[in-house]
Amino acid sequence: MIIVNNQMISKEQAQIDIEDRGYQFGDGVYEVVRIYNGVFYELDAHFKRLERSASEIKIKLPFQLKELKTRVEKLVTLNNVHSGHLYLQVTRGAAPRNHPFPVKAEPVLVAYTKEYDHEPSRLPGRAMFTEDIRWLRCDIKSLNLLGNVLAKQESQERGFDEAIFHRGDIVTEGSSTNVFMIKNRIVYTHPANQLILDGITRRKILSLANDLGLQVKEEAFTKDELLSSDEAFISSTTQEVRPIIEVNGHTIGSGKEGDVTAAIHAEFVKSLPVSVN
Ligand code: PDD
Repeated sequence: MIIVNNQMISKEQAQIDIEDRGYQFGDGVYEVVRIYNGVFYELDAHFKRLERSASEIKIKLPFQLKELKTRVEKLVTLNNVHSGHLYLQVTRGAAPRNHPFPVKAEPVLVAYTKEYDHEPSRLPGRAMFTEDIRWLRCDIKSLNLLGNVLAKQESQERGFDEAIFHRGDIVTEGSSTNVFMIKNRIVYTHPANQLILDGITRRKILSLANDLGLQVKEEAFTKDELLSSDEAFISSTTQEVRPIIEVNGHTIGSGKEGDVTAAIHAEFVKSLPVSVN
C-alpha cells in the first residue's frame, strides 16, 4: 500500500497528474526515513525538517504532522516493513504549466515504504571530488536533485562509491551524504548553513561524538585537509556511518576504518530502535 493525499491505496490505483508541479518543475520537498525492525528512526526530526523545507519554498503542508505520523506508522504495519525506509514527498500540486505559484493548486503528498533485501554496505568506500555546481539553498531538501544525480552517476561510472562536492577548495558534502574528517581526534564537518543539507544522521553523529568525549568542530575544511586527515567517513539515513579510505586515489590515514570512526559507528548502532548490526 502507499499513501496519496488522504488515501491509503495500492500503487496500481495511484494517479499522478501530468501537470503536477513536482513532475514539471521539481517543485516540492521530500524525506527519506529509516525503519529498523518496524520502527522509525528519528521520525520527528525528519518531519521537522520536512516542515522547514516546505516552509522555505512556501508550501503549506496539507496535514498536521501528528496526523501524518499516525498514517505512516499504519503504512509500515500494513506493509509489514522490517528493515527499510519510508520515502515521502510533498509537491505544490497540479495546475496548468506556468512558473508562478498557481492560485488554486492543492499540495500533493505521496509516501511509500521499501523493504531492504540486505543491509547497506559498511565496507570502506572510495570517493572522488567534484565541483559543487548546485544552487545556493542546499539546506532545503528539494526534489531538484540533478546536480546530485549527475555527480553520483559520474562517481559510479568511474568506479567510486561517492562523489564529494567542493566549492573552490572547500569541501561541502557528498552527493547524497554528509562528509566528516578526523584530525588529531577532533571531528570536523561543514557547518549547517545554506551550502549543505543538515543531515539527521549528521546531527545524531555530532551528538554521539560529543557523548564519547570527542571534540567536535562544525568548521569548513579544504580538499587538502581532507586528503591529509587521519580518518574520514560519510553519513546518511541509508548509508549510516561509512568509512572513506581513499579520495581521488589518495589514501586517507591508514587506509582502513579508523578508531574514531569505528567508535562513532558503534555508538550509532547502540542508538538504533533495536540493534540490528
Ligand atoms: N540523502 N546531503 C545530501 C545531499 C543528501 O541527499 C542526504 C540524504 C544527506 C544526509 O541526510 P540524512 O542524514 O538526513 O539522510 C546529506 C537521502 C538519504 C536521499 O536522498 O536518498
